[in-house]
Amino acid sequence: MKQYQILVIGGDGIGNEVTAWGKRVLEEIGSLYEHPFAFDTALLGHAAIEATGSPLPEETLRKAHGSDAILFGAIGHPKYDNDPSLKVRPEQGLLGLRKALGLYTNIRPIKLFDELLNASSIKPEILKGADILFFRELTGDVYFGEKARKDEGKTAYDVMIYSKYEVERIAHKAFQAARRRRKIVHSVDKANVLESSRLWRETVNEVAMQYPDVELHHQFIDSAAMLLIKNPRMFDVILTGNLFGDILTDEASQIAGSMGMLASASIGDSTGFYEPIHGSAPDIAGKGIANPLASILSVALLLEYSFGMKKEAESVVEAVEKTLKEGYRTIDIADNNTPKEKILGTKAMGEQVIKILQKIV
Ligand code: NAD
Ligand code: IPM
Ligand code: MN
Repeated sequence: MKQYQILVIGGDGIGNEVTAWGKRVLEEIGSLYEHPFAFDTALLGHAAIEATGSPLPEETLRKAHGSDAILFGAIGHPKYDNDPSLKVRPEQGLLGLRKALGLYTNIRPIKLFDELLNASSIKPEILKGADILFFRELTGDVYFGEKARKDEGKTAYDVMIYSKYEVERIAHKAFQAARRRRKIVHSVDKANVLESSRLWRETVNEVAMQYPDVELHHQFIDSAAMLLIKNPRMFDVILTGNLFGDILTDEASQIAGSMGMLASASIGDSTGFYEPIHGSAPDIAGKGIANPLASILSVALLLEYSFGMKKEAESVVEAVEKTLKEGYRTIDIADNNTPKEKILGTKAMGEQVIKILQKIV
């Protein structure tokens, strides 16, 4: 019987707090469906810098390459956010790992559970039925272009750069996904200003010729940001670059109710990488109130994409849905009508999901 090797990297802040529950859900799925899941852990980000001096230690890289899937939390620490002069930074660990694993496709589903219609600051009638799948390119763009200072440090630059093959490979993924959905792709760029965006647009048009059954629209990033809030239901698949995708998906989290609800899958050449889209949230770290559902929903993506376990993935999503149906909320997704006793901390929310999971499987 195949043994599944899963690497768990909690990272920093609430990354550790929520990933503990993602892992617990994986263990539960392993025992309910009798899958031999084996776990290992590794350091990344601030925790890794503290322990080894590097945000991405050799050992983490080795374990990552040797695993079948990775469940990640978040990295980041206020020490670095408050001091831009620090040269060794937690984010370098995450970016380095994404690059090393060739994780060029970051899939971020914006799934609005009906129970959370009132948790968002957007009107329910605008939101109802919204269902968007983001394809964010993850190993290129201004994140990985040359960056430096000149003029004795008084000028700085970051090069925004894309090569055709980088656009092609993620565009194919987006069109293929659209075929399984409502067959609409919105490609988001800034082609009215940026040369790299003109290459992006040109390449997406070429790829689109192979998918005549899929409707393609081009949208500038500024208007896309506006339309996402004005009429989220108009979108099906959104295809975009690294930076624009980072920004738009944080915005889109408000469609789903909270940053604490958005999961993601990063897919590339080999090992899949699964993480909530949120960060280490220093404002709530250590308080035991972080929403673990984004991590738990990332586990559903891991089961489906890396292990092909569709039934198991569906049961995780169903357990989350039932937990919400029974009225349980963490504070970030509670509304004025949520009774006090139904507002749970991270641990109690994780336990509820597991209890329901045990009932439905
Ligand atoms: P953040 O995503 O950590 O937090 C933004 C807001 O959302 C905060 O108010 C936070 O409390 C809330 N929030 C986030 N996740 C939540 C959850 N699960 N439950 C309830 N509320 C939640 O973004 P930030 O504050 O801009 O960044 C903090 C640090 O995290 C920075 O160092 C940044 O670099 C890092 N970061 C890391 C990742 C990652 O590891 N993938 C992603 C984003 C930011
Ligand atoms: C994310 C984060 C990262 C990104 C940072 C922490 C490097 O914001 O995963 O969305 O910008 O990709
Ligand atoms: Mn982000």
